[in-house]
Amino acid sequence: MKTISFYDAKSYDKMFFDKRKKDFDFEINYYEDKLNRRSALMAENSDAVVAFVNDTLDAATLDKLYELGIRVIGMRCSGYNNVDFKAAYERIHVLRVPAYSPYAIAEHAMGMAIMLNRKLHRAYNRTREYNFSLNGLTGFDFHGKTIGVIGTGKIGQAFINLCLGFGMRVLAYDPYPLERDGVTYVELDELCREASVISLHCPLTKETKHIINEETIAKMREGVILINTSRGALIDSEALLAGIKSHRIGAAGLDVYEEETDFFYEDLSDTIIQDDVLARLISMPNVVVTSHQAFLTEEALDNIAQITLSNLRDYFDGKPLLNEVCYHCNKKPGCKKDELARCF
Ligand code: NAI
Repeated sequence: MKTISFYDAKSYDKMFFDKRKKDFDFEINYYEDKLNRRSALMAENSDAVVAFVNDTLDAATLDKLYELGIRVIGMRCSGYNNVDFKAAYERIHVLRVPAYSPYAIAEHAMGMAIMLNRKLHRAYNRTREYNFSLNGLTGFDFHGKTIGVIGTGKIGQAFINLCLGFGMRVLAYDPYPLERDGVTYVELDELCREASVISLHCPLTKETKHIINEETIAKMREGVILINTSRGALIDSEALLAGIKSHRIGAAGLDVYEEETDFFYEDLSDTIIQDDVLARLISMPNVVVTSHQAFLTEEALDNIAQITLSNLRDYFDGKPLLNEVCYHCNKKPGCKKDELARCF
């Protein structure tokens, strides 16, 4: 039986991975610590590592894991911007879960947009205090309004379905546009100028880092609702804060934050938050922050467990690694997957 060191483990992870592990013949050691160069030592005597979005898989961590004999890492997520793929290449296979429930994230994004537009978060607090006033709670109909979707992959498409259901006009920006009824692809500038709601569904890459910045915010419609369920660093947080203060941004729904690693998934209610930008954002009446929870549905958690363990089982059984990623991915020539069914 192969043993897995499982980092940043939470009770809901254990519940779903324990249910599935027998199907794949794994023993799992769960660690609450996040993976980094120090905690990597805990993977000694393991055959594989399972990591998550806020683990640090930099060169130092990967060197340590390689030294300990780890040759495969199962990312239990779809994003992988926290992995130094150059340091992993030809030493450690990195597998991921490309899709587990695009609906979970799309529905969370739409939920945030509706909550902010109709001020449900404020109404909830008011009525708990028997304050039944409606002052300041006016929203607008989504029906007939323009929504801008940045990134139209699996989640973006699921989100567009919801927008079309609401009767919205959908503008999209993606370097790889898809033919689709009801969606008009435009340049980013036009999307910013036209949309009453903007939702981010692209991955974090060198090109997309701070895709929402002072300049793009300046082009947006006054009062735009901005939703980010993708990756925090897509938005320049200081520019966002300035945009909210100047009323250019009418509301922001953030499931991710640029510097979330030290905060998200932890109960810090007894501490003083040292990140002034995050604290200020949270204090705003028109900002809702959730702790990277858009994926958190039963269906998604079960799929994550099943696909992560199946990826690792394929590695140990010498099967093709369909869900392997490396820094050559999508860059041909240089991709060995066609020939080897693995990245190296
Ligand atoms: P996907 O790979 O199916 O789609 C990504 C899309 O973004 C593709 O169509 C791609 O062409 C597009 N894209 C790439 N560069 C772009 C650019 N410069 N500008 C605009 N679009 C660009 O990925 P999927 O499954 O839809 O996931 C999207 C992102 O959602 C992930 O990368 C991840 O960061 C985030 N995510 C967040 C979760 C959460 O719990 N908050 C959970 C799962 C994913």
